[in-house]
Amino acid sequence: MNILEVKNLNIRDVKTDNDIVHNGTFTLKEGSCLAIVGESGSGKSITCRSIMRLNKSWLQQSGDILFKGENLNLLSEKEMRKMRGKKLCMILQNGMSAFDPSCVIGVHLKETLVEHFGWSNKEIEEKMKNAMESVMLKNPIEIMNKHPHQLSGGMLQRIMIALALVLEPDIIIADEPTTALDTISQFEVVEQLIKLREKMGSSMIFVSHDLGVVKKIADNILVMKDGKIIERGNIQAIFSDAQHEYTKYLVSAKEELSNQFKKIWGGVNLLKVDSIDKFYKKGGMFSKERQQVLKNVSFECRNGECLGIIGESGSGKSTLGRLILGIEKPDQGTVLFEGKNVMDRRVRLGAISAVFQDYKSSINPFLRLKKPFRSR
Ligand SMILES: Nc1ncnc2c1ncn2[C@@H]1O[C@H](COP(=O)(O)OP(=O)(O)O)[C@@H](O)[C@H]1O
Ligand SMILES: [Mg+2]
Repeated sequence: MNILEVKNLNIRDVKTDNDIVHNGTFTLKEGSCLAIVGESGSGKSITCRSIMRLNKSWLQQSGDILFKGENLNLLSEKEMRKMRGKKLCMILQNGMSAFDPSCVIGVHLKETLVEHFGWSNKEIEEKMKNAMESVMLKNPIEIMNKHPHQLSGGMLQRIMIALALVLEPDIIIADEPTTALDTISQFEVVEQLIKLREKMGSSMIFVSHDLGVVKKIADNILVMKDGKIIERGNIQAIFSDAQHEYTKYLVSAKEELSNQFKKIWGGVNLLKVDSIDKFYKKGGMFSKERQQVLKNVSFECRNGECLGIIGESGSGKSTLGRLILGIEKPDQGTVLFEGKNVMDRRVRLGAISAVFQDYKSSINPFLRLKKPFRSR
């Protein structure tokens, strides 16, 4: 059964007389996940918001949006408000814009839950605490007493998912829920969304420009371009047998990315620091006394790897950095980049670059910014 049927959805900006979405027709099967993909500006968010009836007033929508047979386009604002949250729940790209910045998170959550269920404060706290723990948020009570700006994007995203867990909506609309997050949070948030679907059997519309994520979570795909749906089908069909040039391009770009990823992952050693000793002169100009700052330091760094170097102040971290950059010479040992010694100038210009601790001393204050960049 289709839980949602959208027929001939047209969205027009009456301010500019622009048609933004043309004749959008699609269905969402109960319990399934429909992904909407497409480049930025193709109309994905506006389509999602039109289902929630949350677009700006100058964006007029026409056509039918049938939720369990009921036409949302014909409902009054009051009736629509009852739909939002409990029946249709939206998880936004930017957690920060989803919460009221002037109050702590708990207040917002309580308002929403009181409106839909009329629960007591204690009940709400109990339910939210469980839901937040299930999306790996530690110290839920503490979090509920914080303002949105005191939490990271990943945490806010998880709070929205936790709220969805409590609301148990019929349809979850997730509009690029991971785009604003770092890679690790992205992965975790997608995992949580998959679990949420499994647990509650909710139907989902998942907007993303990342086909890798889409492949993981969705059953069917719509591809949008310039406000039109240009291709649709189930996941396997789209990946193996895309018809439209644009979809083929999206799929091949994804393949290229994952090949690149594989290459990096199985990567070769890019940097080899081998048995480095470094001494600095101690005392005045004529002093012969030396202090050893690096003793027999060796390590390797693979292509694509991020290696952290930590140590107390004065332990030699920055010195090591300068040796890798070839700005200073080691007293003993070598630094090899792609097999070449960084001290002989055969290493590609710009192959190793640094972001210094103190930006003021790294850019010449007498030049306009474009000058030092152009010299590369
Ligand atoms: N509030 C708005 N008023 C007028 N036009 C808008 C508004 N929001 C988005 N648009 C326009 O609608 C089109 C689709 O935008 P959007 O749905 O946000 O794209 P996507 O989510 O696919 O990146 C774009 O051309 C955009 O400029
Ligand atoms: Mg968008």
